[in-house]
Amino acid sequence: MKENQRQLEYMQKVAEHNKGRRLKYCSVVFGCQMNEKDSEKLSGMLEAMGYIRTESEAEADLIIYNTCTVRENADKRLYGRLGVAKQYKKDNPDLLICLCGCMMQEEHVVEKIKTSYPHVDLIFGTHNIFKFAELLFTVLETNDRVIDIWEKTDEIVEELPARRKYPFKSGVNIMFGCDNFCTYCIVPYVRGRERSRKREDIIKEIRSLASDGVVEIMLLGQNVNSYGKGLDDSVSFAKLLDEAAAVEGIKRVRFMTSHPKDLSEELIDVIRDNPVIARHIHLPLQSGSDRILKLMNRHYTKDDYLRLADSIRTKIPDISITTDIITGFPTEEEKDVEDTIDVIERVRFDGAFTFEYSKRTGTKAAVMDGQLEKETVQRYFDRVLKKVQDISKEQAKRFEGRIMEVLIEGINEKDPLMLTGRISQNNVVHFKNTGLSTGSFAKVRLDECRGFYYNGTVVS
Ligand code: SAH
Ligand code: SF4
Ligand code: F3S
Repeated sequence: MKENQRQLEYMQKVAEHNKGRRLKYCSVVFGCQMNEKDSEKLSGMLEAMGYIRTESEAEADLIIYNTCTVRENADKRLYGRLGVAKQYKKDNPDLLICLCGCMMQEEHVVEKIKTSYPHVDLIFGTHNIFKFAELLFTVLETNDRVIDIWEKTDEIVEELPARRKYPFKSGVNIMFGCDNFCTYCIVPYVRGRERSRKREDIIKEIRSLASDGVVEIMLLGQNVNSYGKGLDDSVSFAKLLDEAAAVEGIKRVRFMTSHPKDLSEELIDVIRDNPVIARHIHLPLQSGSDRILKLMNRHYTKDDYLRLADSIRTKIPDISITTDIITGFPTEEEKDVEDTIDVIERVRFDGAFTFEYSKRTGTKAAVMDGQLEKETVQRYFDRVLKKVQDISKEQAKRFEGRIMEVLIEGINEKDPLMLTGRISQNNVVHFKNTGLSTGSFAKVRLDECRGFYYNGTVVS
C-alpha cells in the first residue's frame, strides 16, 4: 500500500476513535515558509480526522506547535508558550499537546521537553510529518506519550490533504533540506540533505491549486537554484520556473530562497522574459566582507555579489532585490561591517532582514574563536539596520506615481473601507475598497510612498 493511503486510513481511524465529537484544534507555527507549508499539511490532516479549527489555544482540544530553531529567540518563544499551555491542560485534562518541526530534531531539546514539560503528548520531527495521523492514533489508543524522531529520510510522501491559509495564494515545495552548511546555520542539521521533488509532481500540484482558485504561487526551497540534483529527469530551476508560470490560471510566481553562489544568468533571463514571474529576488548577502563570507562558507565574494546584483538590475530595472544580513559573526570587526554597508549602498536593497548572530549548538561557527560580546553585536546591528532602512525607504520612492498591477489580499485590518494588496515587487499597497474581491488583480496608482508601503487609488 502506498504511504499516503496508509495515512488516510489512520485519519479515518482517529475520526472513528473520536466518535464524531466536534473536537477543536489550534495550529501554532513558528519560522519560515517551509514551516507554514508543513502546518497547512498538518491542518489538512487534522481536518480529515474530523477536527475543527480554532485560533484560540485556550479553547482547543489539540494544539500543535510547529517549531523553528534558526535563532535562539525562536527557542525561547516556544518554551514560553509551552509554559502557558500547561495551564490550558489543567483546565481541560483531555487536551492533547503536540510538538513538531525543526527544534525537535535537536536531541538536547527533546531531552529538555521530556524532563521539564511532561504535559506534552506527542513529539515528532521534520522528516516524518506525513506520519502525524498514525502517531496521533497511537497516543489516543495508548494514552501514553509518543516520541518519534527520524534522523533522515529519502522519502517524499505526495498527495496528503492540506488546508491552505489563503484561497488565492499558496507555497509549493520544490525541494527539502539543504546541503550548503553555512557555518552559522542549523537548517542542514534539522532538515537533512537536499531532496528535490519530481517536476511532474510539482506541476501537478500547481495545476490542482490553479483549478482550486489559486492565482499566485511561491516555489519553496532553502536554495531553489540547486533544484534537480539527484533527479533522473533533471531540469534547471530556471526551466521549472518557466514551466510553473505557464500553468493555466497562475498569474504570478514567486520563489524563495536564492543562494548567490548558484543564481544563474539563465535564471535572470527567464525572469526578464516572463512577466508572470514576480519582479522580486530575495538574495541573502549575510555579509559584505570577503573574510567573513569565507568563514561563513558562503562560496562567493563581495565582488561576485555586486556583479550578480548589477546584472539583475541592468537586465530587469524594475526588480526589487531584498536580502538577509547577519551582524556579529565571530571575529567580525568594524572594517567588515564597513564592507557590508558598502554593499548595501551599492546594491541599494529594496528591503532587508537583519539578524544578530545567534550561536547554534552543533554548527561550526559555534566553536569558532572570537565570539563577540552582546554589545558589539548590537552596535553593528544598529548601524546596519539604520542603513538598510534608509536605503529601502528611498528605493520605495522610485515607484511613486506609477500604475501597478496589485493582487488584492484582503480587507485592511485597521480600516474596513480599505483593501490591501501587493505589487509584483512584493511591496504592500492600501487603497479604497471599491467592491473588488480578494484574490483578484487591480490596476492601482501608487499615490504616496509611506516608507515600506504605499497608499494608492484604483484606476481600473
Ligand atoms: N536558506 C536560506 C536561509 C534560511 S534561514 C538562505 O540561505 O538564504 C533565514 C536567514 O536566517 C538566513 O538567511 C540568515 O540570515 C539567518 N540566520 C540563519 N542562521 C542564523 C544564525 N545562527 N544567527 C543569525 N541569523 C541566522
Ligand atoms: Fe542555512 Fe546556508 Fe542552507 Fe540557507 S543555504 S539554509 S543559510 S545552510
Ligand atoms: Fe526555522 Fe526550520 Fe525554517 S529552523 S527558519 S523553520 S527551516
